[in-house]
Amino acid sequence: MRASIRCIAMLSLFFMPIAAFARSTQSKQAAGTTKPMEKKPFGATPDGKASDLYILTNKNGMEVSITNYGGIVTSIKVPDRNGKLGDVALGYDTLDGYVGDKVYIGATVGRYCNRIGHAEFSIDGAKYTLAKNNGDNTLHGGIKGFNKMLWEARDVSKEGEPALELKYTSRDMEEGFPGNLAATVVFTLTNKNELKIEYTATTDKKTVVNLTNHSYFNLAGPGSGDVLKTVIRIEADKFTPVDSGLIPTGDLKKVQGTPFDFRKPTEIGARIEQDDEQLNLGKGYDHNFVLIKNKPNGLTLAARAEEPTTGRVLEVWTTEPGIQLYTGNFLDGSIHGKGGIAYTKRGAFCLETQHFPDSPNHSNFPSTLLSPGQRYHTTTVYKFSAK
Ligand code: BGC
Repeated sequence: MRASIRCIAMLSLFFMPIAAFARSTQSKQAAGTTKPMEKKPFGATPDGKASDLYILTNKNGMEVSITNYGGIVTSIKVPDRNGKLGDVALGYDTLDGYVGDKVYIGATVGRYCNRIGHAEFSIDGAKYTLAKNNGDNTLHGGIKGFNKMLWEARDVSKEGEPALELKYTSRDMEEGFPGNLAATVVFTLTNKNELKIEYTATTDKKTVVNLTNHSYFNLAGPGSGDVLKTVIRIEADKFTPVDSGLIPTGDLKKVQGTPFDFRKPTEIGARIEQDDEQLNLGKGYDHNFVLIKNKPNGLTLAARAEEPTTGRVLEVWTTEPGIQLYTGNFLDGSIHGKGGIAYTKRGAFCLETQHFPDSPNHSNFPSTLLSPGQRYHTTTVYKFSAK
């Protein structure tokens, strides 16, 4: 009898620390630290490689899904003013949708996002010719840009915040761009409901780089109508007017007195139908804004969007000098996205942080040149809240 009591006492001494450890782990999870990043197969790419979907969840329950095919953000689920979680990003249900996509939904865009005029540029007198995939110009990296590549993924979560690192090396002369470019994108979902995207790149020959994310937002949810009532503010007092091919003319035009003045919160739709030369050229907003930077290369507020029915707010912070506002002017209902929803004209907006379009051909624009030994490094934060 005595022996068995001693035995129980010894056993409990042995198990106590284990139980305490288990309790502390449980309480950490219950206190709302993040779920581990979930990884799910997302199907085979056209060349037979397996892609995955990574689901990042923060302690507030905000959830962002990203695939290593194209570095594409496939969904962003954020609460509205009543705490109801809803997806605010356009996308497709399956990998095939993204493989066939031609409008860069959710994608990591590179090596050079936006347009390069006449599909050519020069570095040190050497001329480089790119594919023309947008009239006479190159758009979003060419025929097979970074959005159609399979990236190598790694879970780099830390301090209770899930983070996904994607790496892709673009080879010398891929799509006509010189230099082997090693690119890394880290997506972190913070506990402040921010999707933070950090881009880095290095090269072994002089090249040009401009990386962005091409998420289409509808803060009331894709398929809930157009975004014309979404109120936006853009921290820009100038924009880069374009020609008929949407290539910047090189001017930096004041927004004052034009429909491009978003320095005060204004509905996207308030002036979009005005008979304005630039709006006519873009079929709406499809323009790069020159951000007011009190800290050059610092992370500053670039834009804010507020959706009145749900109260959802998106703030865009960036180290970049520019932001493209694209109001889904070319969406025409022919694309059917998640749940079969038709993506119609102005059913979403994009706020693409970037260097200015066609910078390699405009010496007055901030340079997009990257040389061996230099490190390209930019950060953009999409921060969500509700009012
Ligand atoms: C461009 C638009 C283009 C869209 C989809 C935007 O970044 O500015 O002109 O239609 O991407 O490709």
